[in-house]
Amino acid sequence: MVSLDDTLGVETPVVLGPFGGVSSIELTALVSDRGGLGSFGLYGYDADRIRQTAAAMQARTPRPFALNLWVPTGDEAEPADAATAFAEAAASVASLFAEVGLEPPGLPESFLPPFGEQVDAVLEVRPSAVSFVFGVPPADVVERAHRAGIVVLGTATTVDEAVALEQGGVDVVVASGSEAGGHRTSFLRPAEQSLVGTMALVPQVVDAVGVPVVAAGGIADRRGVAAAFALGAVGVQVGTAFLRTRQSAAPESHQQAIAAAAAHDTVLTRAMSGRLARGLPNRALRRIEAGGAIAPFPAQN
Ligand SMILES: Cc1cc2nc3c(=O)[nH]c(=O)nc-3n(C[C@H](O)[C@H](O)[C@H](O)COP(=O)(O)O)c2cc1C
Repeated sequence: MVSLDDTLGVETPVVLGPFGGVSSIELTALVSDRGGLGSFGLYGYDADRIRQTAAAMQARTPRPFALNLWVPTGDEAEPADAATAFAEAAASVASLFAEVGLEPPGLPESFLPPFGEQVDAVLEVRPSAVSFVFGVPPADVVERAHRAGIVVLGTATTVDEAVALEQGGVDVVVASGSEAGGHRTSFLRPAEQSLVGTMALVPQVVDAVGVPVVAAGGIADRRGVAAAFALGAVGVQVGTAFLRTRQSAAPESHQQAIAAAAAHDTVLTRAMSGRLARGLPNRALRRIEAGGAIAPFPAQN
């Protein structure tokens, strides 16, 4: 079996899950330094910020790390079309902003930087690996990454997605079960129809593809790692557990909420971003769901 060491040069088969918005240089570099694969989430980062992030990472560790991008699915709302939904969503949480003395955000000129610009910047800074969610990266992107010696990871929430990713040339499939924190990054069928648990998903993906498989979703200690290996994975991607570390960028209140939660406390909701994601319900989330004013992704985010 091809190991993560063979593929990526990481001797500890633990991938730090990338976090859109809460990745930290310190934690990413530390996981890489300890022999795992630190990953940094670049959701919403423009080319300059990507270059700065990579430079900071490269200054902190000589070890391999991954940068993470979201593949556009084509249904992202643009500010002009989403203006009314944006205003309604902002109004539904205006009192929460007022409570903490902040102005609710205004409609930006654009919600997200162009994917092409992000890709160009990532390939220019040459991380050891680039990971994608929400789709099969375009063929030319995979080819350019491979020419630059960059290992490509793709994330699957179903067996069909894993097969599509392998056919698209990715080197490693991350099989993300429905226990995983953060977005359901499904791209072939609606997220609600792609909720296979890690225990069932991983062995089926291992059987369906020839590339190494990394298990993600609900893995938080050595028992989970052992289970993932028993299911045929060559590594694990851990997210939530790493949010509760000193090096994490998650604020103290977020860390305390994770510490106090049981697994059954999490919910799947579109209220945070407009796309289905697993998280802990808080007052904002309950308010948004009760109000029903949820703008389409990425306006809601
Ligand atoms: C707050 C948060 C943000 C996340 N953002 C991303 C992201 O931008 N890109 C990505 O590939 N995965 C993202 N994930 C998923 C993690 O990288 C990882 O796969 C997942 O957390 C694994 O499941 P676990 O939380 O049960 O360990 C995010 C997860 C969380 C909790």
